[in-house]
Amino acid sequence: MLTREKALDVRYRLRRLRRTRTMRQMVQEHTLRPDDFIYPLFVQEGTQRRDPIGAMPGQFRLSVDLLPAEIELISRLGIPAVLLFGISPYKDARASYATDREGVVPKAIRAIKRTNPDLVVVTDVCVCAYTEHGHCGIIREDGYVDNDSSLTVLAEMALTHAEAGADIVAPSAMMDGQVQAIREKLDEAGFTETAIMAYSAKYASAFYGPFREAADSAPQFGDRRSYQMDPPNAREAVREVLADVAQGADIVMVKPGLAYLDVVHRVREAVDVPLAVYNVSGEYSMLKAAAEKGWIDERAVGLEMLMAFRRAGADLIITYLAKEAAQWLKDS
Ligand code: PBG
Repeated sequence: MLTREKALDVRYRLRRLRRTRTMRQMVQEHTLRPDDFIYPLFVQEGTQRRDPIGAMPGQFRLSVDLLPAEIELISRLGIPAVLLFGISPYKDARASYATDREGVVPKAIRAIKRTNPDLVVVTDVCVCAYTEHGHCGIIREDGYVDNDSSLTVLAEMALTHAEAGADIVAPSAMMDGQVQAIREKLDEAGFTETAIMAYSAKYASAFYGPFREAADSAPQFGDRRSYQMDPPNAREAVREVLADVAQGADIVMVKPGLAYLDVVHRVREAVDVPLAVYNVSGEYSMLKAAAEKGWIDERAVGLEMLMAFRRAGADLIITYLAKEAAQWLKDS
């Protein structure tokens, strides 16, 4: 036990190595670099469209013609990857636009690869922005989201992205068996090199509020609690992750981030595959809102928060702050 006496003993002095910036850097346990970031991008049909997202200041829904300039900026900042979300011009029960080879996501992938073939393109694979009811899968007659018929659509959607040139597909629908269904579909079609980043431990979270406005993907009835994880559960997250790894996930993910750092840590201890954390829309909005009011120092709090994800054990951070944070890191 660290008694008062011992604490005063010189051997227990911990401040010596904090004295100068150089010394602090020498003993720094974790790092934060632009290489750790994945930047989410919302893409939509049309031309010259750059529509601001209300609750996410600094984030936009971009038309494909505006992507090259955006991609050049992202690449210049040293960010290695983007995560694409498509905004659907129409919605139906079977999410048909999600598998349209000429849809906005395939077009965006091709435009990005023409601009910078080295930039890693990750695509979100989920139908909530494409279904008229806004759920992440296909709805049964009684209103329940049907697991197995959803798998067929998700696998087809992933293949659509792989064919257009996506490097990584990221299933986020939280249907059981989605990783295996996608892996089999991709392999059958010869896309054995396309990787899968699984949204393994994705919670039914109120932190997604601003995103649903951005992607126009709010459920029209009910909620997502019958497929996304229940916030009180942490052990279950490890089971989700192990199931996804067994099904062939190359990267696993915990989402949201800030309120789930304990889950990030548990998952880190449980598996060796690369681990991503999603610093979601509501977390970004809270930072922006408090900074706008002058209540917190945006840069300092932003970097501290991102470092916390690394300390908890994440290799990769999906964050709307990627561009600003990369610039902050350059300046520091
Ligand atoms: C699609 C999806 C969501 C997010 C990422 N993929 C929304 C949801 O599940 O309701 C949320 C991302 C964010 O809040 O930044 N299912």
